[in-house]
Amino acid sequence: MVDYIVQKVVKDVYILRLNDSSTKYFEALWEIPEGVTYNSFVVFTDDRVIVVDGWKKGYEQIYIEALREVVEPGNINYIIVNHSEPDHSGTIPTLAKVAKQSLILGHRIAIEILRSFYGLEANYRPVNDEELVKISDGETLVIHYVPWLHWPDTIVSYFVEKKALFSCDVFGSYGIPSRVFYEELGDDEKRLFNYYTKKYFVNIIGKYVDWVNRNLSKLSPLLNNIEIIAPSHGPIYKNVETPLSLYRYLGSKAIERRKTVIVYASMYGFTENIINTLIEEIEKKGIHPLVFRITDKNQPIYSELITELFDAENIVIGTPNYDSDIYPSIKYVAELMKAKIPPDNKRIVLLSSYGWGAVAARKLKDVLSEKGFRVMDMVEFKGRPTENTVDFLKRVVEKITQ
Ligand code: FEO
Repeated sequence: MVDYIVQKVVKDVYILRLNDSSTKYFEALWEIPEGVTYNSFVVFTDDRVIVVDGWKKGYEQIYIEALREVVEPGNINYIIVNHSEPDHSGTIPTLAKVAKQSLILGHRIAIEILRSFYGLEANYRPVNDEELVKISDGETLVIHYVPWLHWPDTIVSYFVEKKALFSCDVFGSYGIPSRVFYEELGDDEKRLFNYYTKKYFVNIIGKYVDWVNRNLSKLSPLLNNIEIIAPSHGPIYKNVETPLSLYRYLGSKAIERRKTVIVYASMYGFTENIINTLIEEIEKKGIHPLVFRITDKNQPIYSELITELFDAENIVIGTPNYDSDIYPSIKYVAELMKAKIPPDNKRIVLLSSYGWGAVAARKLKDVLSEKGFRVMDMVEFKGRPTENTVDFLKRVVEKITQ
C-alpha cells in the first residue's frame, strides 16, 4: 500500500509527502533500510497556486489523488522544478498534463532534462540566479541557483512573504520521520535524522562538497528571514540553524580528531586476525574504532560505511590479495572513497595478507593516491603475521592514536 500524508505546514502551505519504504537501494546503489520520503509542496497566495517539486517516477496517479485533497490541478498556476532528478520530477509530466494552465519554472538545464527524460513539452519559463518572480501582489519568489547540490540544474526557491525556503535535495535526509517538523521529533529521533541527513549528503552530494559553502554563502542574506526550510526529503525545519550548522560542518571537510574507521575483507581469517590485533591495540588507547567487515559471515552497509569515512581522521583498510589484485569488494570501497570522500587530512593505513605475491596493498595505494589520499603506512605479511609485523603494527597504532 502506498503511504502518504497531506498536511498543512504553515498558513497557505501544504506538504504532500510520500513515505517510500519499498525502495531498498536509493539510486539503485545506496542501502536505505530506513526508507525515504519525497516531499512536494502546494503554496497558496491570494490568487495563485504554486506546486514545488513532485514525487518519484512511478507514483503519478497517487500523487494526483493526494494533490486533489488540497487543490484541483486545473487551478495550479506555477510548477517549480527545483531539480530534475526523477525522485522529484517523476510526477511532473502527469501533473503538467492535468494542470493545463500552469507555467513550469526551472533552471535552463532542468528544463532541458525534463524534455530529454520525459519528452515533456509544456509552458516553460527558465529562471536565473537571484531572479525575482512576482507571483501575485502579495507574494514574491526569489530563485537562488545552487549548482551541484545536487545536479547542475539545482535551484532553491524562497517565498519572501511566507519566509519559506524550499530547498529540494539541500538539507534533505533519508528516513521517514514520525512528524513533519524536525522540532516535533523526540531527542532520539532527532539524532537519527541528523545522521540520515549526513548520510544523504555523503552518499548523494559528497562528490560536490566544494560547492557547499560557496552556495550557502549565497543564502546567507536570507537567513534572518526564514521561518521554515522545507527540503524535498525528510523533515522540515523551523530552526534554520539545525540543518545549516550540519551543512557548514560537512562543507568544511572537517575531520573528527582520532575518529578511526576500519574496513576489511577476509576470506579465511588471516587478514581478520591481524585486524583483531589492531583493534585491541587501538582500544588500549581509549579509542573505539568503527569496524566494517567483509567476510563469509558479514557484509557491510556501504552507504553507512562511506558516511562514517567522510569525517574520519584514520582509515584502516585490510585487503587480501585476490587473483593477483585488490580484493573486489575493497576495490569497490576504494572507488566509492574516490568518488565521495575528501582526501584532506586523513591518515590511511593498509593491511594485506598474501599467499604468494604481495600486490593488493600496493595497487590499493596507487588507486587511492590518484585522488590524493595519503597512505601513511602499509603492513603486508605472507600467511600469518610475524612478531616483527605485530611490532610494526603497534608502532602504527602509536602514530594514529596521537
Ligand atoms: Fe533527491 Fe538529486 O534527488
